[in-house]
Amino acid sequence: MVSPFDVLNIDDDADEDAIERAYRERVKRAHPDQGGSLEEFQLVRRAYRTLTEERPADGSNGDRADVGDVDLTDDDATAVGPARVEFLDYEVLVDRGWALDDDDLFVKASDADLRATDYGRLLVDPDESLLEAAESRGFTWPFSCRGGACANCAVYLAEGELSQPVNTILSEDHTEQGFRLSCNGYPVSDELKIVFNVKHVPELDELRLPPGPFRRAHSK
Ligand code: FES
Repeated sequence: MVSPFDVLNIDDDADEDAIERAYRERVKRAHPDQGGSLEEFQLVRRAYRTLTEERPADGSNGDRADVGDVDLTDDDATAVGPARVEFLDYEVLVDRGWALDDDDLFVKASDADLRATDYGRLLVDPDESLLEAAESRGFTWPFSCRGGACANCAVYLAEGELSQPVNTILSEDHTEQGFRLSCNGYPVSDELKIVFNVKHVPELDELRLPPGPFRRAHSK
């Protein structure tokens, strides 16, 4: 067992802001893209959840006695299960005049009676990339190189975390804006909201390659 305070390296009486700051710093270092592991990443997230969800209901800061430790020997505690992904096709945004940063984008999508290929949910197993999961569930999402070197498979991450082990095309600016690659993007949060097919947004337009053979074979 390890205390979530120790995982985040904060004092027992740390307040909400200090927990948030420590979490953001720690989760960055634990991220698989920054040399951490999925297990470490999940542990940090679980420590944060424990501290924010198990705090006393009276609104006090609480302390070490008020929250449960994180059991590292409990497989369920750090296990990485399938991620739930809510997806939306960028073409829907173009058709309807919606924007990627609309706060209620996914609420509007859910109310809009869209086709199952345009909007829906899918589960992504821990060893699957987002693109692999979409394809194995029968969806045809765009791609070309499958190797992190074009923007054809790009998605916009509206919520959640997607690990990006190989990326030689998207700049830091792109990732800060929320763009990721689906061909080697592995969910590292339990839930994500993504807009796929964003290769035509002006920021990514010049980074596209001609579609790969699989994509051409499935195009109408
Ligand atoms: S298909 Fe080229 S980077 Fe994903």
